[in-house]
Amino acid sequence: MSDDRRNSQIAATPLGYALGARIDGVDIRTRPDAATVAAIEALWHEHHLIVFRGQRVEPNGILNFASAFGPLDDHASTPAYRHPEIPELLQVTNREQNGKPSETRNTGRNWHSDYSYTSRPAGGSMLYCDTRPPVGGDTMFANMARAYETLSPKLRSIVDDLEAVYDISLTAGIGDRDPAKTAEVKRLNPPIAHPAVRTHAKSGRRALYVSERVSYFAGMTVRESRPLIDFLCQHATQPENVYRHQWQEGDLVCWDNRTTMHMALADFDQSEPRHMLRATLIGEPSGYVIS
Ligand code: OGA
Ligand code: MN
Repeated sequence: MSDDRRNSQIAATPLGYALGARIDGVDIRTRPDAATVAAIEALWHEHHLIVFRGQRVEPNGILNFASAFGPLDDHASTPAYRHPEIPELLQVTNREQNGKPSETRNTGRNWHSDYSYTSRPAGGSMLYCDTRPPVGGDTMFANMARAYETLSPKLRSIVDDLEAVYDISLTAGIGDRDPAKTAEVKRLNPPIAHPAVRTHAKSGRRALYVSERVSYFAGMTVRESRPLIDFLCQHATQPENVYRHQWQEGDLVCWDNRTTMHMALADFDQSEPRHMLRATLIGEPSGYVIS
């Protein structure tokens, strides 16, 4: 099939006003060629989040599809959460691991952008739903480009000059995890400052880069920073700026961590299995470690 024919079958249907679109006409079991990747990326940049629905794929198939979009992170920042055989896949699961509660059963329970506590924050994340509970287990996503654009010009000029210090300790539920593994993850990821507004390397879009994992702004006290962090998070996550994804098994949801943040809801019966696998595209280097 020619590239033109193949790409003309790719269609996007918006899922929300703020962000998100379903993409039809792509079988993720097939590695996309360069023209297909470019067509998908254009829709991804436009909608910030794209969903491929009704896919059934093995872990290696996720790897095969995701790696067509760029180099994948091997998740060395969080080795305890990786798939046992495939380091390029992170498991977000409540399945017991070696007879113990999973370390990732409560992953993502506050607003965040993936790997913002590292010097290589994630570019895109691609999360595949293998098994979902009968009801709930939704994920919410906020459009951070829109959040930035809807600030007053004066506040925009203030946040333009700020650096946000990210701290992995602010990851919700981290205190409930295995203390030795948590100590290791903290050691690997000391607090790091990133620009509070980042410019997307490919789309050129500016977006707010502040989440519930920011502890303060560099050069400001915690007390001074707190109200502004709270305001910016509340502004970004107002319902009009959010898309809420209700998972189906076989969904691959891809979001851009440079222009969105997300939160996984605990709105489900925790005795029901929820098993997800994430491939993470390496983003642009950013930030400096706070000594
Ligand atoms: C993630 C994450 C959300 C979810 O994989 O980065 O935050 O709903 N997970 O599992
Ligand atoms: Mn996440």
